[in-house]
Amino acid sequence: MSDLATFIAGLPKAELHLHLEGSLEPEQMFAFAQRNKVDIPFKSAEEVRAAYRFSNLQDFLDIYYQGANVLRTEQDFYDLTSAYLSRVAADNAKHVEVFFDPQTHTARSIPFCAVADGILRALKDAEARGMTSKLILCFLRHLDEADAIATLKDAEPWLDRIAGVGLDSSEKGNPPSKFRNVYRMAKERGLKLVAHAGEEGPAEYVREALDLLHIDRLDHGNRSLEDPALVKRLAAGHMTLTVCPLSNLKLCIVSDLKQHPLRSMLDAGLRATINSDDPAYFGGYLNDNYNAVATALNLTRADLVTLAKNSFLGSFLSDAEKATHVAAIDAYVAGA
Ligand code: ADE
Ligand code: ZN
Repeated sequence: MSDLATFIAGLPKAELHLHLEGSLEPEQMFAFAQRNKVDIPFKSAEEVRAAYRFSNLQDFLDIYYQGANVLRTEQDFYDLTSAYLSRVAADNAKHVEVFFDPQTHTARSIPFCAVADGILRALKDAEARGMTSKLILCFLRHLDEADAIATLKDAEPWLDRIAGVGLDSSEKGNPPSKFRNVYRMAKERGLKLVAHAGEEGPAEYVREALDLLHIDRLDHGNRSLEDPALVKRLAAGHMTLTVCPLSNLKLCIVSDLKQHPLRSMLDAGLRATINSDDPAYFGGYLNDNYNAVATALNLTRADLVTLAKNSFLGSFLSDAEKATHVAAIDAYVAGA
């Protein structure tokens, strides 16, 4: 391991942008398909990995929703979540805020309770091992707002264990404005608000997410950089951006990590963080993302410390919890 990789490995960090369905490794896909007697159109995990070539977000989403079809039981959701939590703990993550897409499952007649209870049981078990977490329910933006509202109502009995709502899936043609009512309802229920915006969609979608959805955190946000006044506003408001370098590369949002906007984001004073998005599909977990972008952009240890601190500052932990994690990073740096 290089000095920088060793430094990254030991750095305490949080992950704020992770789709649990996107942590489904090909080997697990086969195991779940076998135990649930679901046919999948692949013969081996290698064949599955070879199919993971995407030219845009929609290419990926088509395969991602197909993969999720093997998830059927509460135990599947428990095992999926547990495997991710073990993997990210090995990257020295101390806290995670994870997304799930209930509509992907309820549309296949998998009950909401199987999904939520399996995930929450795994999060609780990991808490006993020192990993804290928050769960974020994402609405699929290619569906209509009435479906999102029905999903929020389905989730009502679990809302004491769900920290917030998010918005994901096909961005182009599905602007944040489509979901302003369900976001208002979520806010009335005391939930935190996040949304994917400016991944493939224009900077205008980021403005809508701020002005119409009143988001607390911005997922991706890359294309904000096309609008200097928006960048100033995001920086002045200490808005956290959950940036996903390997995802951006695999979905052709950037053609080369050397062209990744993370450096410009930090230079503009944006509170950027590093995350893995859908690690099983994009070829890397949390530290792989740190390592890849640090190498491509020649990030310094000071940059990496800023990014790791941002991951806690941008979390939905309490101020006291954030301060404890930031102090742990300072202690790590002093001893490294
Ligand atoms: N669902 C899972 N990953 C996503 C991404 N990167 N963008 C939008 N929706 C997603
Ligand atoms: Zn995402």
